[in-house]
Amino acid sequence: MNPQPHITLLLAWFNDFGRTLPWRNIQDHYQIWVSEIILQQTRIQQGYAYYERFIAIFPDVFSLSESSLESVLKAWEGLGYYARARNMHKCAKILVSEYQGRFPQDLEILLKLPGIGPYTARAIASFAFSQEVAVLDGNVFRILSRYYADTTPVNSPQAKTHYQNLADSWVKNAPSADFNAAMMDLGSLICTPQKPKCSKCPFSAYCKAYLQNIATHFPVFLPPKVRSVRYIVFQLIFNALQDKIQIQKRPESGLWGGLWELPNYEVTETEWNYIVAKRGIIKPIKHILTHITYQATTILDNIEQTPNGIWADKQKVSELPLSKLTHKIIELLPKKIIK
Ligand code: ADE
Repeated sequence: MNPQPHITLLLAWFNDFGRTLPWRNIQDHYQIWVSEIILQQTRIQQGYAYYERFIAIFPDVFSLSESSLESVLKAWEGLGYYARARNMHKCAKILVSEYQGRFPQDLEILLKLPGIGPYTARAIASFAFSQEVAVLDGNVFRILSRYYADTTPVNSPQAKTHYQNLADSWVKNAPSADFNAAMMDLGSLICTPQKPKCSKCPFSAYCKAYLQNIATHFPVFLPPKVRSVRYIVFQLIFNALQDKIQIQKRPESGLWGGLWELPNYEVTETEWNYIVAKRGIIKPIKHILTHITYQATTILDNIEQTPNGIWADKQKVSELPLSKLTHKIIELLPKKIIK
């Protein structure tokens, strides 16, 4: 049976205008997986370089499973959301020990693997195994909500099931790898958040929002939760004679898990302002994550040892996997202290 008429138009548009990307039309399931994990929270421009480098360092699931977690985190450094790297490492080990290094095809089994949620399971099932499942990302939410002028807020509890059902109804009887790639490209190139190019859209004869000239009213969002602010004091503990500084490793789970940082502690806003004024040795840094804003200052401390700290060669610190915030701090330290 043929796909629905608007899907035929979408696939024709994709044939003419779809992007050429290194992870398109490849057969290697490992490379498909790596690309999807990187692209989950990273823009294509930045993801591209990391993808090529990651594949060069860890060319297959076996090399990834045999490598140290530290080397995987190092390759990931700067990309953020490090749980992705830790889960990939774990997942590679499971694939090798339980699945002969191959991905299972069943969606439910894929979903049980570390770091593989509904989005990635569906991306692998369609790009690697041509299963008729639709991926749901920001592009797809936007396209569907405009197409149907659907006011279900995309960040509401019911949104995922609601829009997933719509997307799955579109992929029926269609070549799913092309369909999913086409939706991503349509969302990136035509059905953009601002100034969508509706006159060039293959859905222009069908899209309810466009036909009512209200495309940019969609998608609808519930108001965002406010981001909390945390005030952190980083300690530069320095042994000038041996040219060493104290560093500590973060716990394996949670934010920046397994990465190294300067010893630090949290204070109140008032305390932090006081410390910045009296003891800050570099300008304070504001570091914004999705749910938290960090206000960080750095002081020189001459205590002997912090509870979890170890002494590290000053020159070698930047070879370790570090959070972006720690990188920023180290770059700003006076050259007299850190070369
Ligand atoms: N974003 C996530 N996965 C992608 C893919 N396969 N192609 C383009 N953008 C993407």
